[in-house]
Amino acid sequence: MQNSTLEVSILTDMANFEYDSKRLDQNVTRGRFKDEVAIVCGGASGIGRATVKRFLNDGAKVAVFDLNGDNDFGDENVKVYQIDCSKKEDCETSVSSVISDFGKINHLVYSVAYFGSKALDATEEDWSKSLMINVAGAGFMISAVTPHLEKAEERRRSVCLLTSISSTQAQWHRWTYGATKGALWSLVRHATLELGEKGIRVNSVSPSWIWTPEVAKAYPEKSEINSPSGPGQLYHSLGRVGEVDEVAAAICFLASRDAGFIHGHDLQVGGGYHAMGPEGCQPAKFAGSTDS
Ligand SMILES: NC(=O)c1ccc[n+]([C@@H]2O[C@H](COP(=O)([O-])OP(=O)(O)OC[C@H]3O[C@@H](n4cnc5c(N)ncnc54)[C@H](O)[C@@H]3O)[C@@H](O)[C@H]2O)c1
Repeated sequence: MQNSTLEVSILTDMANFEYDSKRLDQNVTRGRFKDEVAIVCGGASGIGRATVKRFLNDGAKVAVFDLNGDNDFGDENVKVYQIDCSKKEDCETSVSSVISDFGKINHLVYSVAYFGSKALDATEEDWSKSLMINVAGAGFMISAVTPHLEKAEERRRSVCLLTSISSTQAQWHRWTYGATKGALWSLVRHATLELGEKGIRVNSVSPSWIWTPEVAKAYPEKSEINSPSGPGQLYHSLGRVGEVDEVAAAICFLASRDAGFIHGHDLQVGGGYHAMGPEGCQPAKFAGSTDS
């Protein structure tokens, strides 16, 4: 398929990547974020967009920070701020606007990513873009929201960053992306010290392959990605790729008071990917597996 055709079909098919309430236990979590405000960076698409919807379901008001300001959630409890999170000043100005508009901030989710990936061929610009958008942006946002999070009600203050299987697993030609995801996991652990003493919990969620517009650039059809020779079955012992709302549910759990003693944790949402070794899902032949 031509790239332009593919992009158009992805855009017109956004419904494919939507939050699906029927899969979730969302009825039991309704109202748990009543009177709370969350900022979701990267909330216009994919996992971030599903996270906005889960926060809304659970009673929060949500500020979406995204390069893409053209987004309608059809809900008066959401406001979209068009911002480049890799610019420190943008982060600070937009956080001040959230305080003017909503009066407080309880939670920060950083779901922004630059997916461009290079290895031996990486230029100074490739490195700089990856590090600024994926890592420094998260740092800028944490710095900008911390003075407000610490004023929020106790046990209702959290930060969640999106790491990845690429944080810890080697993948072909993914140096620039993978290194930034590893750095985010390191940032989570470092930030537990300064944020912990202010009663702000900081964690991350590490997804494996999730059905999003980015993944669909390589696998336009869901049936293909979950076929016997596709990554859904080959890399996940649950036999499929994940859905955005399944990641959003984990992010919102970490923000909730039920996660009140979880701090400095990377929650794997990977359908078995993280547990698997080089043998994959295949039965292996070895001495202990025979009766003789
Ligand atoms: N999709 C997956 O399979 C997968 C797997 C592992 C980890 N992740 C991680 O999950 C997160 C979300 O992934 P996704 O697939 O939902 O992404 P996505 O591309 O659907 O959404 C990312 C959003 O970030 C916004 N954005 C990009 N650069 C920005 C910037 N400088 N400032 C503000 N906004 C910006 C984009 O406009 C977009 O709306 C990312 O951190 C990604 O690395 C995704």
